[in-house]
Amino acid sequence: MMSAMDAVRTIELPRINSPTGSITPVAGGDQVPFEIRRIYFLYDIASGAHRGGHAHWELEQVYVAVMGAFRVVLDDGRERRTVELNQPAVGLFLPKLIWRELVDFASGTICLVLASLPYDEAEYIRSYDDFLEVATR
Ligand code: TYD
Repeated sequence: MMSAMDAVRTIELPRINSPTGSITPVAGGDQVPFEIRRIYFLYDIASGAHRGGHAHWELEQVYVAVMGAFRVVLDDGRERRTVELNQPAVGLFLPKLIWRELVDFASGTICLVLASLPYDEAEYIRSYDDFLEVATR
């Protein structure tokens, strides 16, 4: 059976290097397998913070550690996996119905998130019990 975890993958993003610095361009439908409808970024992250702690009904996302590092603990209701992000030219694609927790943020981390849909609180599953019920049925 195909599980949501099978669709999770890291994406190698392009790097345009020059002696004066690097550029990583990202376009929806190209490097990222959806049309990008929203971006947001996490910064000023408190030491020891846990972020996330939810899943989404339909939203797909790509997480990038554009500065610093953190770990993403993933759970599709059947298995658990942890991915460390610590490079600006690597994205982590998360399909719908993946429970995620972001932990172990290095000081000064900036996490960029590319999202397939506008913000909508109704898109969140914030109860782990509700998530398990949906994800395992
Ligand atoms: P949330 O997605 O729960 O943060 P994280 O997963 O990083 O822990 O969002 C935290 C709060 O910010 C929540 O009250 C909703 C608000 N928010 C918006 O208004 N728009 C957005 O695009 C996002 C991502 C969050």
